[in-house]
Amino acid sequence: MRVLVTGGAGFIGSHTCLSLIKKGYQIVVLDSYANSHKESLKRVNKILNLKNSEKIKLFKADIRNEEMLEKLFADSKKENNPILAVMHFAGLKSVSESIQNPMIYWDVNFNGSLKLFKIMDKFDCRTVVFSSSATIYSLSSSTNLKEDSNIGPNNPYGETKLAVEKLLQKMFAKQKNLWRIANLRYFNPIGAHKSGLIGESPLGLPNNIFPLITQVALGMIDKFFIFGNDWPTLDGTGVRDYIHVMDLAEGHISALEYLLKNEPQILNINLGTGKGTSVMELINIFQDINKIKIPYEIKGRRVGDLPSVIADNSLAIKCLKWFPKRTIQEMCADGWKWQKLNPNGFKN
Ligand code: NAD
Ligand code: WQD
Repeated sequence: MRVLVTGGAGFIGSHTCLSLIKKGYQIVVLDSYANSHKESLKRVNKILNLKNSEKIKLFKADIRNEEMLEKLFADSKKENNPILAVMHFAGLKSVSESIQNPMIYWDVNFNGSLKLFKIMDKFDCRTVVFSSSATIYSLSSSTNLKEDSNIGPNNPYGETKLAVEKLLQKMFAKQKNLWRIANLRYFNPIGAHKSGLIGESPLGLPNNIFPLITQVALGMIDKFFIFGNDWPTLDGTGVRDYIHVMDLAEGHISALEYLLKNEPQILNINLGTGKGTSVMELINIFQDINKIKIPYEIKGRRVGDLPSVIADNSLAIKCLKWFPKRTIQEMCADGWKWQKLNPNGFKN
């Protein structure tokens, strides 16, 4: 069965492509490489001992390019191998950048999705797994977040994710017996495939904690700044629900298979571990497991941060029969292996 993976060259997309191929799916990737490298998919082939283009068909295109989207679906249909489902990762993901430039976020994340869904509908492809985010939950709620907890993003990035979820809800309501939709709300994905061949390769200076820690470990950045040690948490530093990117990738396969096996429906599902780790704990675990020092300094709180953000992942466990298997120690070891072997990510 053929699946379209938009944004498949990116961090989560490339790990999911690997899991999809392992499960026997044929994939078509659409990516503009706005925040990724073609090399990531070559590496996926390398891990699987495949020749390039044997299992992954690549389209370099922007998600907002309707003509390209149409061509891609039409070509697959002509080949008698139509696209039967879509995993939609393509989009922009920086909270701070979205505050500075909301229009580009609305254009890529919302308009891009709208165009994709329109073409899917045209080609009778109505199964979609969408990359949503825990950032759509409201600031007032932050621990044991359930899918029906208060919604209310506090930044344009989160607003675009919520808008796409709402659009999908409207599409489902209009054609109830047709669409199969999973909105997967990720918590904090970190780590890398254990081969060290693929991982997160941010193009600019990273904002997220994990690539910052690995770059400090490499000496590319002098020290790590902890944003506040006066939060109401056990050690005063912020607590998050970190999830290994391979567990997340496998969650996508479980969601897709659940949708394909069951009647049309729309699902909102948290993908997290249900366990919190503080910034200080993460640094200590990273140092212990990798035997490397992370120089750090305490700074003030970052605007918009929350003390603690943890998923209630019971719906994913019950409904998808999926559960995260990898520990925070494995996340730190695998993520460091990737960064150590590829100090410049996929560049060079
Ligand atoms: P990423 O930037 O590595 O991957 C996104 C991919 O989309 C990249 O390959 C990029 O080149 C591509 N892309 C961007 N704009 C495009 C466009 N206009 N047309 C075509 N392709 C385009 O990010 P990621 O961490 O792998 O995230 C994947 C998805 O998951 C995103 O939608 C993101 O918002 C969502 N998400 C990520 C996190 C996280 O912390 N990483 C958390 C929650 C949700
Ligand atoms: C994690 C913890 C910081 C950097 C963001 C998005 C969210 C999702 C995941 C896409 C916090 C602390 C961080 C630093 C620090 N992405 N920290 N020093 O803010 O939980 O979530 O990424 O959907 O939408 O908002 O992740 O990695 O930025 O921060 O102390 O230099 O690390 O305060 O406690 P966050 P993060």
